[in-house]
Amino acid sequence: MQSKITQYTSEIETFEPKSAEELETYRIKFLGTKGIIKDLFDEFKAVSPEEKRILGKVLNQFKQLAEAKFNDNKDKFIGESISKEAGEDLTLPGEGFEIGGRHPLSLVRKEIVEIFKRLGFVVAEGPEIEDDWHNFSALNFPEEHPARDMQDTFFVAPIPGENVDTEKKGEYALRTHTSSVQVRLMEAGKPPFRALMPGRVYRNEAISARAHCFFHQVEGLYVDENVSFADLKQTLYYFVQELYGEGTKVRFRPSYFPFTEPSAEMDISCTICGGSGCQMCKQSGWVEILGCGMIDPNVLDNVNIDSKKYTGFAFGMGIERITNLKYQIKDLRLFSENDVRFLKQFQTEVV
Ligand code: DAH
Repeated sequence: MQSKITQYTSEIETFEPKSAEELETYRIKFLGTKGIIKDLFDEFKAVSPEEKRILGKVLNQFKQLAEAKFNDNKDKFIGESISKEAGEDLTLPGEGFEIGGRHPLSLVRKEIVEIFKRLGFVVAEGPEIEDDWHNFSALNFPEEHPARDMQDTFFVAPIPGENVDTEKKGEYALRTHTSSVQVRLMEAGKPPFRALMPGRVYRNEAISARAHCFFHQVEGLYVDENVSFADLKQTLYYFVQELYGEGTKVRFRPSYFPFTEPSAEMDISCTICGGSGCQMCKQSGWVEILGCGMIDPNVLDNVNIDSKKYTGFAFGMGIERITNLKYQIKDLRLFSENDVRFLKQFQTEVV
């Protein structure tokens, strides 16, 4: 027995496992339930008491040696041994989840909504397939008036079997602007209104870097007693300071929209050059960001709101445009191509 132990001891001392398999073979051979150590201990039971005194110590030392060899090596190979079964090394760091990010337009829409929420605006939505009344007529676009040509419309056939009131509503179209939601909101409730209406809109435009057949707008509506153009200016001024930073200048230029009177377009000092002139602002120092105005009394009358008692303002902006000015994106098509190399750059927050 003594000689066996000596022989195994040198075997163990020189053993350098090169793989998990080798280590496992070693473990079974020496430490396994039918292994050498078990056998030696069985043998040990049968030896004489004198021999026991000497051999007991030797055997215990041998056992410790065999176990230590295994323990010293087991960490090296444990992953590998599992990998044989699972086909991969589970001790490697996990691959982790790719956390999805928000689309830049969603990020900016959220930012816009949050700014107006601080002023008490609530969010409202309306359908993307819209009838003529909500998209045009109620908004004071007269029949056959060239103002309707301002926006190239995608008309859609009514769904067969739908009960369409053709006399009032006429044709269906993909909404050309979110102003239609103003009409739905005012028809459905009573003043005061203070709402923000984000949504997708469609226009029959050839797709290019600067135009797309669909894009996104945010519409604003404020109707109450004694609402003035000063309220409109202050509201939008606050919005611009919050979105683009304090010190951003604004200016209002007279404009025309059928549903507002007076109407204006609002420019801000160029976010890129700060007003000194660059490519983005075509050297003017100013960039247009939205249309606005006091709601035309005809619109209020169309939705049965007393235009003698109530006044209001409205505004509409393109989210793509606001986003471009924030991030200097030069090609609108990037927003809808789903190229992760583009989208990844905006993964600033996940909510
Ligand atoms: N609907 C307009 C457009 O799509 C934008 C607009 C202008 C909305 C003036 C308004 C407004 O509410 O008052 O071009």
